[in-house]
Amino acid sequence: MFEALEKIRREALKRVDAVAENAELEAVRVEYLGRKGRLTEKLRRLGSLPPEDRPRAGALANEIKGDIQRRLTARAAELSAPRREVPQLDYTLPGRRFEVHRRHPVNQVIDELVDIFCDLGFTTAEGPLIEDEYHNFDALNTPADHPARDEKDTLYLEGCDLLLRTETSPVQIRTLETTKPPVRIIAPGRCYRNDTADARHYPVFHQIEGLWIDKGVSFAHLKGVLMEFARALFGSKTRVRFRPHFFPFTEPSAEIESTCPACGGDGCRTCSGTGWIELGGSGMVDPAVLEPMGVDTEMFTGFAFGIGPERIAMVRYGIDDIRLFYENDVRFLEQF
Ligand code: DAH
Repeated sequence: MFEALEKIRREALKRVDAVAENAELEAVRVEYLGRKGRLTEKLRRLGSLPPEDRPRAGALANEIKGDIQRRLTARAAELSAPRREVPQLDYTLPGRRFEVHRRHPVNQVIDELVDIFCDLGFTTAEGPLIEDEYHNFDALNTPADHPARDEKDTLYLEGCDLLLRTETSPVQIRTLETTKPPVRIIAPGRCYRNDTADARHYPVFHQIEGLWIDKGVSFAHLKGVLMEFARALFGSKTRVRFRPHFFPFTEPSAEIESTCPACGGDGCRTCSGTGWIELGGSGMVDPAVLEPMGVDTEMFTGFAFGIGPERIAMVRYGIDDIRLFYENDVRFLEQF
């Protein structure tokens, strides 16, 4: 009898521990403690034991009943406790790469050009990307029949007289409208043209405009400033040359070229074998631009220039297609 009771205790407790859901606990309870349960059965048969064994057997059976009941209650509490979500972590996985974001290569070059001109005493100015014909063309002495005004070259906004500025030169006009000379500004910014994209053209690009108006400013100052600029950019051995050109708002006008920083002027792939690369346009501001702005052109003269940062970025980084700057392919951009 005692043996049998101990066996029931062992089995019952093991069964309770193995239960995985609350509903099963009730089945186990009934199996051992129910009216026809295995322990209940034993209790009922205590009377058939020899009298001297009855008290001990009764006490043991009751002890076992208590044990099973306590274990049932404890297991029920365990099963109904809210389960903590243990995150499934794989500690052997490699870490995630920390992405360091960078400035766009064209913006890096613009920042550098702005720094150089600020060292030369220029301050920065700004103008709107959406311009009117007056600031973009008329005030810059660009005649009404000039081909640049054609829709083939200029992006006009529908239903109004506005356009996307084709150059940063209108900032010259906006500055002169609000500032009396002396003026010494640069204006970096975006420009738009109705161009088909190819390796050298893109409908969006940047320019850095420069304007210096003061008493006695001459073409020699223009050359000096742009030579200093080219040397700060490409190194002290850089040479600069000016080739006669035409712009409506400058007279005389010149294209600015520097020796190619890739070959030092010997000729290479970057400069198409010429040894020279084009940096932009420049010239002495035409009195026809200054006079309507109320500038006394007997007293004040000045020069202007426009530099293309995309071209400089292409030369500096050996990029042969301007479209790469605007495709936003991170595999390209993260190299800078
Ligand atoms: N705006 C001219 C262009 O887009 C560049 C330029 C040439 C700007 C001569 C100037 C300048 O200020 O003096 O081609």
